[in-house]
Amino acid sequence: MTPKSQGDYAVVLQDVKKTFDGKEFILKGIELKIPKGSLTAIIGFSGTGKSVMLKHMLGLLKPTSGKVIVLDTDLASMDDNTLTKFRCNFGVLFQSAALFDDMSVLENVCFPLEEHRRELSPEDVKKIALEKLKMVGLDTAHNNKLPSQISGGMQKRTGLARALALDPEILIYDEPTTGLDPILTEMVDNLIVETHKARPGTTSIMVSHDLHAAFRIADFVVMLDAGKVLLAGTPDDFYKSDLELVRRFVDKGIKHQ
Ligand SMILES: Nc1ncnc2c1ncn2[C@@H]1O[C@H](COP(=O)(O)OP(=O)(O)OP(=O)(O)O)[C@@H](O)[C@H]1O
Ligand SMILES: [Mg+2]
Repeated sequence: MTPKSQGDYAVVLQDVKKTFDGKEFILKGIELKIPKGSLTAIIGFSGTGKSVMLKHMLGLLKPTSGKVIVLDTDLASMDDNTLTKFRCNFGVLFQSAALFDDMSVLENVCFPLEEHRRELSPEDVKKIALEKLKMVGLDTAHNNKLPSQISGGMQKRTGLARALALDPEILIYDEPTTGLDPILTEMVDNLIVETHKARPGTTSIMVSHDLHAAFRIADFVVMLDAGKVLLAGTPDDFYKSDLELVRRFVDKGIKHQ
């Protein structure tokens, strides 16, 4: 993967700095280009700014200085309404699937379509939602159950189906497997890869504490340290790196598996 022009990148961060209190900088000049179509893993010690960086990509936080360019559009050029619509380009799955407790599995997946695709008939909304649930491998027998009536793995599948509802170009996962048992972790990791492969052109960006998975499934890895990009490259670039912090992080992650 050797992108050359700006259009080959899904997300570009140019010298992005962020301070919440005007004193301490959480992001200290992030330079990053995420190749379109890549499955990118973002790794780094706790508190280094991974989630804050994701929120900048989503336009949920604004940089104190620097530029955030998503799908060739500078987020700063958009007003709030345009930005809200623009966010339909993203599908997001956080650590907790964040499903609506009082809605059934099917209703959860229909929700973004009802919100953002008002031109669709209820029949079409249902048809698309059923397609997405099929795509993530959830048996139709669960469609009318509430989130509390299905297992953790099924909740993740439902969350992913909902994230896919609007056919987003970019999928964002923030620690999708933290707190899950090893079997469920592997299932979710595989689901991320399968979903990525099933949708050619999709860019998947995943923050992960699970280095083993990050190096196994990602084709592009970004390591943040103290608000800066320490290294960005292929898993092989990481294995070959002489940077001490990278070595410590990589060796530790691999040893723990
Ligand atoms: N809205 C906010 N206001 C003030 N400080 C914040 C805010 N959001 C995050 N921070 C601070 O920014 C720093 C980076 O947080 P962030 O959540 O990005 O870390 P992280 O790399 O995702 O860590 P983890 O791996 O534990 O999830 C932390 O010190 C956090 O307290
Ligand atoms: Mg985080």
